[in-house]
Amino acid sequence: MEGMVVERAWESDLDAVAALEADAFTNPWTRDMLERELRQSEVARVYVLRLPAQPVAAFCTCWVIYDELHINTIAVDRNRRRQGLATALMRYVLEDAARGGAARATLEVRRSNDAAQRLYERLGFKISAVRHRYYTHPEEDALIFWLDRLEPSAPRPES
Ligand SMILES: CC(C)(COP(=O)(O)OP(=O)(O)OC[C@H]1O[C@@H](n2cnc3c(N)ncnc32)[C@H](O)[C@@H]1OP(=O)(O)O)[C@@H](O)C(=O)NCCC(=O)NCCS
Repeated sequence: MEGMVVERAWESDLDAVAALEADAFTNPWTRDMLERELRQSEVARVYVLRLPAQPVAAFCTCWVIYDELHINTIAVDRNRRRQGLATALMRYVLEDAARGGAARATLEVRRSNDAAQRLYERLGFKISAVRHRYYTHPEEDALIFWLDRLEPSAPRPES
């Protein structure tokens, strides 16, 4: 998409990130939790996707633990969905982690979240396990996805 940029978030992005999180999830991370992620930069990373008319159109939080990338949350502004933003953001996050030495990636998703599951499957993730009644508000199973081969070579989305 024209003018799209993905980069690590700044503290000035926190309000917009927290607003997207609160709008997207029934059991959202609070602004304080997100702020800790942003500050605790050794393991945690927060990425934002910017558009010319919208400084934070999507975001993704994750941890890099040894050679594993753990995606914790991804959300796109509800008025910007189905335009490829999550795909572009995920590709950037995966490639950035791979360039830093990560070899594989994992995440969990609600069983009822078909949109997210299709997104992850299209990126090459595969279901490896089920955690029964993992989520609350409402209670629901988690599907555990893994992507076993991260590739650092693809170009960055904004370049
Ligand atoms: C899931 C989410 C991040 C997808 O963002 P997005 O920018 O709309 O995704 P993309 O446009 O990159 O879609 C990529 C593919 O995912 C699938 N997909 C995305 N949204 C879908 C939907 N509502 N229904 C069915 N498939 C969907 C499609 O296969 C899509 O490709 P297509 O549009 O060419 O058919 C977004 O819907 C969102 O923010 N949801 C609320 C938060 C959430 O559930 N996050 C994931 C938690 S694990």
